Amino acid sequence: MSPAPADANGRRIYDLDHAHVFNSWAVQGAWDPIVIERAEGCSLWDCDGKEYLDFASQQVFTNVGYQHPKLVASIQAQAAEMSVMGVNFANRARSEAAEALTSLFGETHQKVFFTNGGADANENAIRMARLFTGRRKVLSAYRSYHGNTGAAIVATGDQRRWPNEYADGHAHFFGPYLYRSEFGSTTAEEESARALAHMRHVIELEGPPTIAAILLESVVGAAGVLVPPPGYLRGVRALCDEFGIVYIADEVMSGFGRTGLMFGFEHDLDASNPPDLITVAKGINSGYVPIGGVIISNPIADFFDDKFYPGGLTYSGHPLACGSISANLEIIRDEGLVDNAAAIGSDVLGPGLHQLAASSEIVGDVRGIGLFWAIELVRDKATKEPLASYGASSPEMAQITRALTAAGLLTLPIGNRIHLSPPLPVTPTQTAQALHTLTMVLAP
Ligand SMILES: Cc1ncc(COP(=O)(O)O)c(C=O)c1O
Repeated sequence: MSPAPADANGRRIYDLDHAHVFNSWAVQGAWDPIVIERAEGCSLWDCDGKEYLDFASQQVFTNVGYQHPKLVASIQAQAAEMSVMGVNFANRARSEAAEALTSLFGETHQKVFFTNGGADANENAIRMARLFTGRRKVLSAYRSYHGNTGAAIVATGDQRRWPNEYADGHAHFFGPYLYRSEFGSTTAEEESARALAHMRHVIELEGPPTIAAILLESVVGAAGVLVPPPGYLRGVRALCDEFGIVYIADEVMSGFGRTGLMFGFEHDLDASNPPDLITVAKGINSGYVPIGGVIISNPIADFFDDKFYPGGLTYSGHPLACGSISANLEIIRDEGLVDNAAAIGSDVLGPGLHQLAASSEIVGDVRGIGLFWAIELVRDKATKEPLASYGASSPEMAQITRALTAAGLLTLPIGNRIHLSPPLPVTPTQTAQALHTLTMVLAP
């Protein structure tokens, strides 16, 4: 439990939350939120004035940081110009956001379908792939998260799928995860080759003419920050080409600079042969107004030129959200945030975490890229026994999270891992501060 707010208004907000808000992924009675009063840059302040350094970006979405003045101004201006418009009318904000997004892809992708977030982006990408190929099945990784709606939650490999398995046509495969390799690999090269051989087997045994799409996070996020070894995504692209399968890259978490390039797949794929459908949300506008989308390759977009698309959303392309996409992309470009993510990751955060692992008894693995990292905590480095079992927490993990939060560092604890994904403008000084706190807690 975090200490109850001392401030009377903070206490009132806390009590109202408890009484009336039904919270996500939570045992409602155990819900114990910090009441946040303000946020700016990479920091948040609670109602008692305590400052927290944000090394989570909430659920990995505040890419440009909090209350960015240009982004706030763009939303205010858009609200004044046109707060709302339905899907049947064109408007400036939607047209310009679509142009800004597709311009990130050169000539290969010219259209965007806007959604409300990431899950419905994956839903619609799956729908498009099924219609385009005339096939039904979707392959995705066991260790993955694709959203909490019908088909997307069933495509999800992790435990959130278990209570939601009501759609058909999904099969799962093991992706690369060298620390706990399913394939007995000892090097990244082996892991890449063996995971691709396994994927080929899954395709062959599921039946190539039945498979519409492979849905894959370019860097697996919530299920572990699993950075694919070199060649893996290229191999997936080649298998999709060989068998006529649509490659859907889920860039909901890894997109918009998070990995040190604009999109995660760019670390491995050739710009001339990118994924067919790219699903986006979160960093698309740093979450300031909910929105997501599917960026569609020309052949798939053209397919629907003379065919009805049986999908849609009331708020697809909402102007208030679209207005903030263009501003968000400008901020990322003008402030060099992609390069900052790459530099802080490779020069400060990555080396600091590896140093922490060397001095800590319980940090079993460190992995990440750009500003997208996780440390995996174990009871014993030799046996790799996790500090919490799969899909669960443990008293030890809860205690570590409490200690980090009490020391003013917000992270994203998932299972036996601490995920670290600060806003992209994070400085070397702030990163050093976070590393210091992690060291105090994990390697005292
Ligand atoms: C990779 C990935 N895909 C999809 C989603 C679902 O996005 P949303 O919660 O906006 O529906 C998430 C959410 O965390 C995600 O990380």
